[in-house]
Amino acid sequence: MSNDPKGMRKGLTQYGDSGFSLFLRKAFIKGAGYTDNALERPVIGIADTGSDYNPCHGNMPQLLEAVSRGVMLAGGLPVKFPTISVHESFAQPTSMYLRNLMAMDTEEMIRAQPMDAVVLIGGCDKTVPAQLMGAASAGIPAIQLITGSMLTGSHRNETVGACTDCRRYWGKFRAQEIDEQEVADVNNQLVASVGTCSVMGTASTMACIAEALGMTVPGGASPPAVTSARMRVAEDTGAVAVQMAKSGLTVDRILTGKAFENAMRVLLAIGGSTNAIVHLTAIAGRLGYEVDLKALDRMGRETPVLLDLKPSGQHYMEHFHAAGGMATLLRELKPLLHLDCMTVTGRTLGEELEAAGPGFKQDVVRPMSDPIYPQGGIAVLQGNLAPGGAIIKQSAANPKLMEHEGRAVVFENLEDMAARIDSDALDVKADDILVLKNIGPKGAPGMPEAGYMPIPLKLARAGVKDMIRISDGRMSGTAFGTIVLHVTPESAVGGPLAYVRSGDRIRLSVEKRELSLLVSAEELAKRERETPVVPPSAERGYRKLFLQTVTQADQGVDFDFLRAAQMRGKTPE
Ligand code: FES
Ligand code: MG
Repeated sequence: MSNDPKGMRKGLTQYGDSGFSLFLRKAFIKGAGYTDNALERPVIGIADTGSDYNPCHGNMPQLLEAVSRGVMLAGGLPVKFPTISVHESFAQPTSMYLRNLMAMDTEEMIRAQPMDAVVLIGGCDKTVPAQLMGAASAGIPAIQLITGSMLTGSHRNETVGACTDCRRYWGKFRAQEIDEQEVADVNNQLVASVGTCSVMGTASTMACIAEALGMTVPGGASPPAVTSARMRVAEDTGAVAVQMAKSGLTVDRILTGKAFENAMRVLLAIGGSTNAIVHLTAIAGRLGYEVDLKALDRMGRETPVLLDLKPSGQHYMEHFHAAGGMATLLRELKPLLHLDCMTVTGRTLGEELEAAGPGFKQDVVRPMSDPIYPQGGIAVLQGNLAPGGAIIKQSAANPKLMEHEGRAVVFENLEDMAARIDSDALDVKADDILVLKNIGPKGAPGMPEAGYMPIPLKLARAGVKDMIRISDGRMSGTAFGTIVLHVTPESAVGGPLAYVRSGDRIRLSVEKRELSLLVSAEELAKRERETPVVPPSAERGYRKLFLQTVTQADQGVDFDFLRAAQMRGKTPE
């Protein structure tokens, strides 16, 4: 079907009279003013994720126009359709809770409606993974268009951008280093235009990964949202979609095991968001591939961080774009990549890199010989506290805390933490280890980005900027600190984390990749008998579906029934 140029015929209902079905379908679309001529072309669906609740997609009208133009210039018929849109700051209880819903919406709308190829327009953190998950399952030719990053702002002559600087300035305000006037002033500058966060947060990470996977046109990751370059990428994307529809270049030929390895290399080399591991695992799981955390860690030891972007470095996405974007990075990483991977253009990653020409002098992407950080940004930890693994973004952590043993200060859940973290009565010292339970996939639910726990107020006032923090939750890609995340299995399903008590000793050694709770197995078993964990449940609706079927972090937090057949019900070691 995918290379049937008469897109309107695709998926005709078979209630016994397909002729009537086509007749009816044409009558309705003609109601929108189309001619027969228009309807005989490849139909390119365009997933419109514009929403007033999503300023990261605020350039959607212009993007839709540019994609449509590209489709028409290449002889196709653009047909826009809406799906849900998810913004980080406006989605409760957390955007991650809705990622799978958006993936289902995307998949089912691609399946339901007649189209020969689809352009997925996404940008804000969860949208691109949701769209790639949905498209991977739907299986037709698909291409990703990124909305693009926001511009940087300027606060009292300092360049600022969401949201590493949001956290930094809020931290200063909490520590009473700046006053209310200043924190209000910087609030006007942090998001200087529509578009996604301007640092290497999850949105930028997923943009780079989408390009590394071969799912965008070359150079599709980096142009800021409001630039003409972004609009040209959109026009190109429309044209390539028509080409893909004609040649029948389906997603499974692009998203291969090797392509996922390339994506992991890129994730490490850009000092990317830890969230991307969960998303990559979920996308790969749709096609029957496993993202092996141990392999990621091995790759990490030989893949340095090359990209000098916040929070690991100093620049912003617009600077990365000026430095040549992904072509500059991929050229540097070339010896570590599978260059024979297919991309949306029908050419391989290696061929596209050749076509991009030689590099030029710039100071955003470092050479292999002079990296920002000698290893990959993310290290995978193991130990009795995390039998299914945990991760730490070592490039954004404090080197002094990466080999540390300390006393646990435990918070049972988000409410408990909110109630006590700022209390003067809290028994906590700077070399303690903060532990937060019940923010995993089922715990909160939705594995919120609450792993970036605030420094207790009394310590913040005393100048403490970082502490070891451990949880089963996630952290925003724009955050920084010595923060252990994704502890698996999570506490809400009875992982060892559930049985940690204040006063226990915990050892973190990033060097040895170790995360140990220094409590005997007998004692832990006793605690489990005394206070067994009851996993959360819900009476009805999406929450019920979520709690019944969501998988752990090491399986991508996807719903089990959405994964490829061979992956379902499978528990990785
Ligand atoms: Fe949308 Fe950061 S809030 S990308
Ligand atoms: Mg984010």
